[in-house]
Amino acid sequence: MEDTGKGRLAVIIGGGNGIGAATAQVLSERGWKLAIVDRDLDNAQRVASELGGRAWHCDVTDSGVMTGIAREIAATYAPPHGLVVSSGTFQDSTVPVAEASHDDWDRLINVNLAGVYHAAQAFGPGMAERGQGAIVNIASTAGMGGSPLFAYGPAKAAVINLTECLAGEWGRSGVRVNAVSPGVTLVPRVRARMQAGARYRGNPGDSMALGRAVEPPEVGETIEFLLSDRASAITGVNLPVDAGWAAVRGWMMYGGTRPVGA
Ligand SMILES: NC(=O)c1ccc[n+]([C@@H]2O[C@H](COP(=O)([O-])OP(=O)(O)OC[C@H]3O[C@@H](n4cnc5c(N)ncnc54)[C@H](O)[C@@H]3O)[C@@H](O)[C@H]2O)c1
Repeated sequence: MEDTGKGRLAVIIGGGNGIGAATAQVLSERGWKLAIVDRDLDNAQRVASELGGRAWHCDVTDSGVMTGIAREIAATYAPPHGLVVSSGTFQDSTVPVAEASHDDWDRLINVNLAGVYHAAQAFGPGMAERGQGAIVNIASTAGMGGSPLFAYGPAKAAVINLTECLAGEWGRSGVRVNAVSPGVTLVPRVRARMQAGARYRGNPGDSMALGRAVEPPEVGETIEFLLSDRASAITGVNLPVDAGWAAVRGWMMYGGTRPVGA
C-alpha cells in the first residue's frame, strides 16, 4: 500500500464510528498516524486501539474543549497535518416545518455546523502558521438541494459554504480545505434503520446512477485522496460521493435511470 500519509498525523473528529471509522482504516493503511476524537470515547478507543492511534473525548459543540484537545494532541504527538470533521447528528423527523421542534433545529445546527466551525478554529490557525495542512469537512447531498430535512439540510449547505470561506482564509498559507458530500452511505446506523423499515421509502439505491448506495470505505478513500499531496491543487471544492445521485435527479421524473440492457 502506498505511503501517502508519510507518517503525518491526521485528527478524525467523529472517528469512533461510521464514515469516520472507515476513513481511519484507510488512512492507517496509507501510513497516517491517527488521533481519534469522538463524544463516544469507548468507540474512539476501540478504533484507536485497532489501528494503533490515540483517542480523545470531545463534543464538537464545545469550542473551549475542542481548543484544549487541539493543544493536547499537538503536545502528545506533533501538530496534525490532516483534519477530518465527520461528527454528525441526524434528523429523524420529517414532519411539516410548522410542526418541527426548535430543539431539533438547535441540536442539528450546533453539531453539524457550529461543530465544523469550532474544529476549524481549533486546528486551522496552527496549520496556517506552519504553512501546511489539509482539512476535509463532511457535508451531505442533503445540503445540495431541498428535502424534508429542514434543519439537517441547511446545516450541511452551510458547511459547504464555510468550506469555501476557509479555503480563501488559509489557501495562501498552504492549507487546503475541502468538503465531501456523501449520499446514502451504509454505515451501521443507516443499515440498522433500513432493516427496521425506517427512514426511506423504497430502496435509496434506486435514485442513484449506479443503482446502489455508497459503502463507507468509498467515502474514506475520497477523503484520503483530498488529504494527500495527490490533491495538492484542489481546495474549496465540495466533492459528492453519492453513486451519482446529484447528477441524475432529472431522470427521476422519467421513471428513473435506464435499466440494464434496455
Ligand atoms: N451515512 C450517511 O448516509 C451520510 C450521508 C451524508 C452525510 N453523512 C455525514 O457523514 C458524517 C458521518 O456520519 P456517519 O453516517 O458516519 O454517522 P455515524 O453515526 O456512524 O458516526 C458519527 C460519529 O460522530 C460522533 N458524534 C456525533 N455527535 C458528536 C459530537 N457532538 N461531538 C463529537 N462527536 C460526535 C458519533 O459518536 C459517531 O461516532 C456526518 O457528518 C453525517 O452527517 C452521512
